[in-house]
Amino acid sequence: MEKQSVQTFIAAKQRGEKLALLTAYDYATAKIFDESGIDGILVGDSLGMVVLGYENTLRVTLAEVLHHTKAVSRGLKKALLIADMPFMSYQTAVCDAVKNAGRLVQEGGAESVKLERAYVEPIRAIAKAQIPVMGHLGLTPQSIHILGGYKVQGKKPAEAQQLIDDAKRLEDAGAFSIVLEGIPAALAAAVTESVSIPTIGIGAGPNCDGQILVYQDMFNMLSDPKPKFAKTFADVGQLMRKGVQKYRESVKSGEFPDDAHSY
Ligand code: KIV
Repeated sequence: MEKQSVQTFIAAKQRGEKLALLTAYDYATAKIFDESGIDGILVGDSLGMVVLGYENTLRVTLAEVLHHTKAVSRGLKKALLIADMPFMSYQTAVCDAVKNAGRLVQEGGAESVKLERAYVEPIRAIAKAQIPVMGHLGLTPQSIHILGGYKVQGKKPAEAQQLIDDAKRLEDAGAFSIVLEGIPAALAAAVTESVSIPTIGIGAGPNCDGQILVYQDMFNMLSDPKPKFAKTFADVGQLMRKGVQKYRESVKSGEFPDDAHSY
């Protein structure tokens, strides 16, 4: 696989080739995903919930995303690295948004940034600063207090039309791709048709140009209820629990370490 970039993402859409993305938050996991041929890695602000144990993504800071982006960037050779812009890092002023996006690239090693909702002015300014920007529409977790929770968006015709219009505005502002989260499959198909940049779905049905999952969900690593759309691709959580029990028993019984497992 060639090194993934904004250009290879757009070319994949033109060829009708699907893009497979995952989240990652540390060096070792990023390296495994990269070596497995994943097209893009997002250091999502889901970091707050699946790594740091926060209740939602709102408490995640730029410093936290930066720290994890640095680790992930050291593990990647081929995948495109996207860093999430956390809550309040782009909403307040366009120049702050550009500065914060710049830090994720310059200090964190990100190759692009993602921000939620139709913040057209920051997107235009970040893209003008030569930083590729990914949009994120639909169920945007940084808006849960406005949305009233994690609910499917765009069910009403007017909301659906707004989402299609927003997607076009993001493309026009210079976004290279758009995440579509928690919207009906038919609407995701309509958005995908109406823009020439790739759409990346999560809980948005099969008609997007690519898919992304939070890896802890697809590996069954959290005991919290996981989203319905997150298929278990490997029960890593169960494997880890079994491995930890085996190790514990082996230490308690004096079986481990043996001579073969000493320095
Ligand atoms: O933060 C995140 O992991 C995300 C994905 C769910 C798209 O934004």
